[in-house]
Amino acid sequence: MPNKESAIGVFDSGIGGLTVLQKIIETLPKENTVYLGDTARAPYGTKSVETVLRYSFENTEFLVQKGVKAVVVACNTSTAIALTRLRDSLSIPVIGVIEPGVRRAIKGTKNNKVGVIGTEATIQSGAYTRALKEADAGVEVYSRACPLFVPLVEEGWTDNDVVEMTVKAYLGSLKQSGIDTLILGCTHYPLLKKVIRKFMGSNVRLVDSAEETAKEVESALKQGVLTRKNSKAIHSFFVTDAPDRFIKVGRRFLGEKVESAVRIER
Ligand code: DGL
Repeated sequence: MPNKESAIGVFDSGIGGLTVLQKIIETLPKENTVYLGDTARAPYGTKSVETVLRYSFENTEFLVQKGVKAVVVACNTSTAIALTRLRDSLSIPVIGVIEPGVRRAIKGTKNNKVGVIGTEATIQSGAYTRALKEADAGVEVYSRACPLFVPLVEEGWTDNDVVEMTVKAYLGSLKQSGIDTLILGCTHYPLLKKVIRKFMGSNVRLVDSAEETAKEVESALKQGVLTRKNSKAIHSFFVTDAPDRFIKVGRRFLGEKVESAVRIER
């Protein structure tokens, strides 16, 4: 049975969830973490509902076997498709990235016009629109899938002419729609914040789900399972494909904390 000293489990389709892990470590520096990146099967954003469901359950099963005290679904696509079912099947807290971002967006919008960007699967699922409307039925939602953002970030291109052109092509109509809040509904998008902010202008508030999710994890654990120890936290990384690329790209997200990663066979 997990206890206060058990680790927090985090999974993502690959590397991007490290943006969420980074915020969890900043918010809860004493907590041990176990991260699983399903690098062999990423991206999830272009896959079918059945496939994303199956992968999400397998990832969760792995973390549960590691004895974690909570599971953070760092992947927006997995959250959109699998969160409710994962919650129903587990007795430990399961935290996704959509509700926290939605709460922040609703709190922040002044004109009730909120934009959402994410992978194709996330946008197609309608999960963000549903959650926004549930939080405030009067909100106008403008959503857009931005499939090229993930490969750009994976390539390490976060701030060059190609990124600027892609941002312009995807976000042009969102800019025209008059939104005052834009949810970055994908693990990778916080790395494009600078270019997105420049294009959307300072009147549009960008909501980074990672920050909000970390706060949600903290409040879930405060219900009695925060660690009491004072020793240095241990962060373990597991991947489903060769670790080299994960370590290289992962350092871009999380710096030297990504020292090594263990490959697991599926
Ligand atoms: N982790 C995914 C998400 O947040 C992005 C990468 C992928 O498509 O697997 O939606």
